[in-house]
Amino acid sequence: MAIHPRITGGRRQGPLPLKRALLAAITFAVAVSVLCLLSLTDTLSFTDTLTFLGFTPRDVDKREGNRKYLYWGTRIDCPGKHCGSCAGLGHQESSLRCALEEALFLDRILVMPSKMCLSSVHNTKGILHSSNATSKPRWETGSCAMDSLYDLDLMSRTVPVILDNPRSWYEIISRSTKLGEAGVVDVQGVSRVELKENPNYSSALLINRTASPLAWFMECKDRTKRSSVMLPYTFLPTMATKKLRDAANKHRSILFSASKFLYFLQMKEILGDYDAIHVRRGDLLKNRKDRFGVERSLHPHLDRDTRPEFIKKRIARWIQPGRTLFIASNERTPGFFSPLSDRYRLAYSSNFSSILDPIIENNYQLFMVERLIMQGARTFVKTMKEFDKDIALCDNPKKNTKDWQKPVYTDD
Ligand SMILES: *[C@@H]1O[C@H](CO)[C@@H](O)[C@H](O)[C@H]1NC(C)=O
Ligand SMILES: *[C@@H]1O[C@H](CO)[C@@H](O)[C@H](O)[C@H]1NC(C)=O
Ligand SMILES: *[C@@H]1O[C@H](CO)[C@@H](O)[C@H](O)[C@H]1NC(C)=O
Ligand SMILES: *[C@@H]1O[C@H](CO)[C@@H](O)[C@H](O)[C@H]1NC(C)=O
Repeated sequence: MAIHPRITGGRRQGPLPLKRALLAAITFAVAVSVLCLLSLTDTLSFTDTLTFLGFTPRDVDKREGNRKYLYWGTRIDCPGKHCGSCAGLGHQESSLRCALEEALFLDRILVMPSKMCLSSVHNTKGILHSSNATSKPRWETGSCAMDSLYDLDLMSRTVPVILDNPRSWYEIISRSTKLGEAGVVDVQGVSRVELKENPNYSSALLINRTASPLAWFMECKDRTKRSSVMLPYTFLPTMATKKLRDAANKHRSILFSASKFLYFLQMKEILGDYDAIHVRRGDLLKNRKDRFGVERSLHPHLDRDTRPEFIKKRIARWIQPGRTLFIASNERTPGFFSPLSDRYRLAYSSNFSSILDPIIENNYQLFMVERLIMQGARTFVKTMKEFDKDIALCDNPKKNTKDWQKPVYTDD
């Protein structure tokens, strides 16, 4: 997209023939508009535009005094428990999505926990630096700020949310207390249809709902068709903070100074045209011994199917040799997937440590970036099937909590 020096101010040798001049003018105009477009989309997001206009979506509550609130509690999925025993990101997201859907259904602003618990089993370091895998140091532990994972302004364009941090939250609490009975109702085990239709609930400024102490997503288990407002599974993954999105996505920062362009390549750009596999091992490979001392597993073929020799056989039908293959995995053994390198150009998050190191503080953030990469793959192979259209490494059903079977390692 170089701009011809003759047009940008180089010395002209006499008038150009009309046709060439016209062509040059058009080329220049196109180049300029493309540049404007690029720099606009880069630097001015929708929310920036709103900020520029003097308000942000998060101020919704202040601008519209009539908005009402829905509160589910201070922690997702671990009421009263220590953060260390909380569920992984996927479970917590199912739960958060359930609460967000209820807020959509009730047309209320969801008051979200300001922190997300980081489960210790899902937060060992060593993914970005495979050479240090054996030392298993941990990332920051306990919890992380919700807005270090999600872009709340972006989320608020679909479901308005605020955090239960002191600034906004205390204001709402004090407003609801002043209102007395119309201010806040505490409910437990009331259906969302009831919450919407019974004026005793629907008129309250704040519905304080005690969600299932086991897991918030239990509240979505047996909702009726009519009352459910489905947010797609991809909703929360795509709501990653701008910092995380920018690391993953094709994104160009253009510095325009004296006809000089600087491109900062991001992960998808470096990967080019690529495929991806998500190989869940560690946490899912839990075996236990039955009373005869025989190993049993909930996913008897998983250990076998997530080994490189079996992966190679399985994905051959979907992914051509020579392709770039991005591998997201919680497997920590250095070089575990190397046998695949005779057929594919392998890439991991660790190949991008110069991009990721400065911004990643825990595995949840890292996984959010990896999910964006996996979403952008031409062919994506999951560990186990979740939906009909999925392709997967292992045919064992993902949801199995009871049927412990003998692990299978042979080519059955
Ligand atoms: C591995 O750990 C050591 C000691 O903690 C550290 O000095 C070194 O920089 C680490 N290597 C990498 C690649 O991060
Ligand atoms: C609302 O609450 C009042 C007082 O508690 C009660 O008498 C009334 O039946 C309730 N209305 C509904 C629709 O449940
Ligand atoms: C919400 O309800 C629970 C249980 O009734 C109570 O412990 C908590 O203090 C309430 N929170 C607010 C903000 O009203
Ligand atoms: C990623 O790093 C591994 C070594 O850890 C190397 O073998 C591989 O070629 C790298 N991939 C890319 C795409 O640079």
